[in-house]
Amino acid sequence: MKGNFPIQQWNGVPTPFYFYDTDLLKRTLQAVKEETERYGFTQHYAIKANANPRLLSLIASYGFGADCVSGGEVQAALDAGFPADKIVFAGVGKADWEINLALQAGIFCFNVESLAELHVINELAALQNKKACVEFRVNPNVDAHTHAKITTGLSENKFGINLSQIESVLQVAQTLTNIKVIGLHFHIGSQITDMSAFKDLCIKANELQDRLQQKGYTFDNINFGGGLGIDYHHPNHICIPDFAGYFAVFNQLAERRANQAIHFELGRAIVGQCGSLISRVLYVKEGEVKKFAILDAGFTELIRPAMYDAYHRAENLSSELPEQTYDVVGPICESSDVFGKDVALNEVRRGDFIAFRSAGAYGEVMSSTYNLRKLPTAYFSEDF
Ligand code: LLP
Repeated sequence: MKGNFPIQQWNGVPTPFYFYDTDLLKRTLQAVKEETERYGFTQHYAIKANANPRLLSLIASYGFGADCVSGGEVQAALDAGFPADKIVFAGVGKADWEINLALQAGIFCFNVESLAELHVINELAALQNKKACVEFRVNPNVDAHTHAKITTGLSENKFGINLSQIESVLQVAQTLTNIKVIGLHFHIGSQITDMSAFKDLCIKANELQDRLQQKGYTFDNINFGGGLGIDYHHPNHICIPDFAGYFAVFNQLAERRANQAIHFELGRAIVGQCGSLISRVLYVKEGEVKKFAILDAGFTELIRPAMYDAYHRAENLSSELPEQTYDVVGPICESSDVFGKDVALNEVRRGDFIAFRSAGAYGEVMSSTYNLRKLPTAYFSEDF
């Protein structure tokens, strides 16, 4: 089965481009909103997954907060209508101007990743006569069983403060006059489909809170980050992730202290399935053994296959001919510019539309102008 795309209306539209199914995004947003609110949890959409302004405004209209990792993202969140007091700001390397911007905007909190950063936030907040609200990002040492380049919760990662060091950081924080500690933050990795990783996270968070409570530390907020994966192999059948199962894990296993708010920062699970990269076939090249489908899209538009060996389902939207096997490649002058090897596609001819599915997250937003290519345009199903 292929997705439902208005290809007759795409004649004359320059490729490659991103195509977003706004109806699917709305249904996904409704589902995640219902399941988040079922337990009184709070959702901050992870802007890094897709910062297309039109999608951001739509997501903001559902009442979510935003999770940002740069000054640019904080500004984009504000511009799209996310309320400042629902913005969280993470990242191991926040520059002074980014911290100042966030302080001026009055964001909900900084997710602080090191003692060095805490001192700088304290100094910059003092200059603005403000108290900065912070959560400490703790590295819980949980294995997310995902791709090495997108796992973050192991102790050798650059992210977060190690479990063994959190107490001393809390002690220092108490002495800083322009810092208010409001919570703990965790994020163990991305594209996690095995719920046992989230179960482990809950257990680690409970243990840590018990330990810190004995020393007199309590927290108004716990933020469990994002990470829920999507089904890249079945974008047409499993297009809305199992939010119910995901939040039920936290509801059952995370021991919630009195008056404690629980936060999440989902990105991929919200926008992943609604986006496709649409390209056209430039040439079919017959090798000695293989056939190559050479497209007008490359890793400049979708870098995930080249960077993480990621799979994106490819569909020939223009052909119902019997399937043949192709190496599907882009035009970039790098041998890593390959979307997939031995990919089965309905027989391909020059000009056919090829869709790469499940590209709504970390697709358009990671595109580049390498080889002096143009950044891709975005189109929305509701406009066709
Ligand atoms: N919170 C924090 C602190 C994060 O670092 C991330 C993602 C998220 C939330 C959102 O995670 P999600 O729900 O989307 O899994 N470019 C890679 C993914 C990098 C994820 C980085 N952090 C990819 O294309 O797979």
